[in-house]
Amino acid sequence: MSETKSKKVILSGMRPTGRLHWGNYTGALENWNKLQDEYNCHFMVADWHVLTTALDKAKEIGHNSREMFLDWLGAGLDPEKSVLFIQSEVKEHAELNLILSMMISMGRLERNPTFKEQIRDLNMGNEISFGHLGYPVLQAADILVYKAHAVPVGEDQLPHLELTREMARKFNRIFGQVFPEPEPLVTKFSRFPGTDGKRMSKSLGNTIEISASPEQIIKKIKPAFTDPARLRKTDPGNPDICAVYTWYQKFAPDQVEETASECRSASRGCVDCKLKLADGVIEHFAPLRARRAEYENNPKQLDEIIAAGCERARAEAARTMEEVHKTMGIG
Ligand code: TRP
Ligand code: SF4
Repeated sequence: MSETKSKKVILSGMRPTGRLHWGNYTGALENWNKLQDEYNCHFMVADWHVLTTALDKAKEIGHNSREMFLDWLGAGLDPEKSVLFIQSEVKEHAELNLILSMMISMGRLERNPTFKEQIRDLNMGNEISFGHLGYPVLQAADILVYKAHAVPVGEDQLPHLELTREMARKFNRIFGQVFPEPEPLVTKFSRFPGTDGKRMSKSLGNTIEISASPEQIIKKIKPAFTDPARLRKTDPGNPDICAVYTWYQKFAPDQVEETASECRSASRGCVDCKLKLADGVIEHFAPLRARRAEYENNPKQLDEIIAAGCERARAEAARTMEEVHKTMGIG
């Protein structure tokens, strides 16, 4: 425990909107896993954040938070090494959210590119809630309440991190130094393809879950996007434009070269190629599925892990808020 004190603090979060897929895994989870030894990591299920855009699915949030925990534990996030917790279990986030909401202008939030995109994509018009506009403020509270030094995020989250830094600066300037200005740790973003060849994303319906069973994996891989010019097995293929080939690079790296040459020389058909890949994927995720199932079959143990993580997070957040109260002279 004393060792963790000298390590830099990291916080990151994911919104629980359903089981995690290969894109979440390659874009974040796998990286989080690696960070656990080097940093004092905090990983948060951002359940309140789901309310900003998916109020219609609010009833599923509790269930999805547990599913997210199972995916995390399966993937190797270790409750002994890292603080794994659920946002809504730590009310200090809400208090700091309120305070930080005074440190930022409405105009600045309205100019947030993520916000503008969501309004356009979700066709929300003037149905936007106060809380949705304030999404980055809550995110800043998530980060600052643990005095995080670094935040592993995808590139899309950089504007939010910049806003976090601005709020921290303003607070520190007005009241006194409390918060470090957190740095982004940008996850090397490989655009990971879904079953249709477009970027894997839940909203496109092209995902494959990391917890998928061997049968489900095969079922999803079979109709996946390949080189569209390859109509017959005798047509030479171009692996560089094929989603299946990108999956090989990730999940069966020792077969990449052979696959590329057999594809180009038309000595391997797409159906065989996919079944071979499925074998690799099934093997890659077998330990994850086994670990996940262990916790799934032992809900009491899962409850205890979640409760212990939330307790640790609460203790740390409460310490920061004490400092905030003292520095502000109120609360
Ligand atoms: N906004 C992040 C996302 O959609 C989730 C999130 C919430 C988060 N709070 C955070 C990420 C704090 C990093 C730090 O992916
Ligand atoms: Fe893709 Fe394999 Fe078919 Fe080549 S043989 S196009 S790599 S699925």
